[in-house]
Amino acid sequence: MGNIIIAIDGYSSCGKSTLAKALAKKLHFIYIDSGAMYRAVTLYFLRNHIDLTDEKAVAKALEDIHLSFHSRDYQSHITLNGEEVSEEIRQMPVSENVSAVSAIKAVRTDMVKQQQRLGRSKNIVMDGRDIGTKVFPDAQLKFFMTADPKIRAERRYNELITKGESITLEEVFENLAHRDYQDTTREESPLVRAEDAIILDNTNLTEEEQLQFAIEKVKALGWNSETA
Ligand code: DC
Repeated sequence: MGNIIIAIDGYSSCGKSTLAKALAKKLHFIYIDSGAMYRAVTLYFLRNHIDLTDEKAVAKALEDIHLSFHSRDYQSHITLNGEEVSEEIRQMPVSENVSAVSAIKAVRTDMVKQQQRLGRSKNIVMDGRDIGTKVFPDAQLKFFMTADPKIRAERRYNELITKGESITLEEVFENLAHRDYQDTTREESPLVRAEDAIILDNTNLTEEEQLQFAIEKVKALGWNSETA
């Protein structure tokens, strides 16, 4: 069997990365957070005041951006031109601009190419919005995650507050609603469930229950961490 790809797509703040990391750890796969790539590009664009409507400036910026991943303890760390930016890309300025940046065709083409390269020879779990539809349409296992928007906003709010950000629950809710809207209505690879993706609604599921659900699906395909 060639290398195995597990694709996890879904709405913002649905717990995709939590499940993806847990699955990768259990199966000894590599976890890749594709959203972090779009976020790092957004950070670069913000820092360098790139005009999103200026195709040349966007193309030049993409040439100047070098991303790399470092996996430590199944946490995915991303560097932007050698600088560790894993924390900064989670903050609101990036969250507020990432959907607009990730709707740009040239950005998507570049990211998809890099993501496909990352999955060429290794067993990976990758989460995002278009992994099962566009990046790896032949992935052996696909999940599409969803949850009640209010629950999602509460989860993300608690996460941000714990990190010391000053923000209201309403602001978080608005940001998620806005990103869902942009992600599902954009022209380039909108967020949509792949026909063969298994739906996982985790509104009322604990992290452990979600992992069990996913592991059952993995087992149904006849793999385990030893054979994979
Ligand atoms: O998963 P996340 O919230 O960190 O992703 C940040 C943004 O990046 C999200 O609003 C949409 C975009 N994204 C995308 O368009 N395609 C992906 N494969 C992953 C993320």
